[in-house]
Amino acid sequence: MLENARLRVEPGVIRTFHARRGRVTKNQIFALENYFSEFELPEGPWDFKELFGDKKVVFEIGCGSGESTVGFAKANPETIIIAIEVHRPSISHLVETAHKEDLTNIKVAYSDGVQVLRDWVQDKSLTAIFAFFPDPWPKKRHNKRRLFRTEIVEMMQKKLKDGGEIITATDWAEYGQQMLEVLPNSKLSIRPTWRPTTKYERKGLAANREIMEIQAKL
Ligand SMILES: C[S@@+](CC[C@H](N)C(=O)[O-])C[C@H]1O[C@@H](n2cnc3c(N)ncnc32)[C@H](O)[C@@H]1O
Repeated sequence: MLENARLRVEPGVIRTFHARRGRVTKNQIFALENYFSEFELPEGPWDFKELFGDKKVVFEIGCGSGESTVGFAKANPETIIIAIEVHRPSISHLVETAHKEDLTNIKVAYSDGVQVLRDWVQDKSLTAIFAFFPDPWPKKRHNKRRLFRTEIVEMMQKKLKDGGEIITATDWAEYGQQMLEVLPNSKLSIRPTWRPTTKYERKGLAANREIMEIQAKL
């Protein structure tokens, strides 16, 4: 069960996340016990053809409580979205919503999304990679933890099919500039119609930070 599950993280790797366990409430434990297995993917490497036939597959790193995941899944019922998160209370929220709304095109993994992408996803197999409001790691000495840095972006590129996209958003202008620099063929874009305003986004807006929507197409 996820309550006791150990997060699969590789020693020596620069993590893009805080190792916070987060208090899990009774309701969240109920959701994890009852709904997580409905959406969990088995350990990889994954063969999407075998798992999902000819359906398109998108991959979301750091889905949080899954507001964007759910928005996308509802708007694109024929596409599979694999959402990865390292924070258990957030994952419990997502599986509870996905269960209540019967969103069978959502799949989840409680793991480091960077490792999962690298080790379990075949090259040229994804239609898109999403990461909304990835942790900005604003202190200079922490910049190396950012998700959108050259070596991870190069790995993301390998996993995308030709014509695949990376879609992200940030409220952190300086990180947004870095994203535009490291993501090939990237540009400021308009907000996807299916993407709701997330909890993290609301914090940025409350602090008068501008939201940058960024899209990179291979
Ligand atoms: C600032 S929050 C944004 C959450 C959500 N995308 C949103 O827009 O509300 C960033 C999230 O990414 C998760 N995260 C960061 N690095 C990750 C990784 N390598 N694998 C999985 N989750 C990660 C964190 O746990 C956190 O929940």
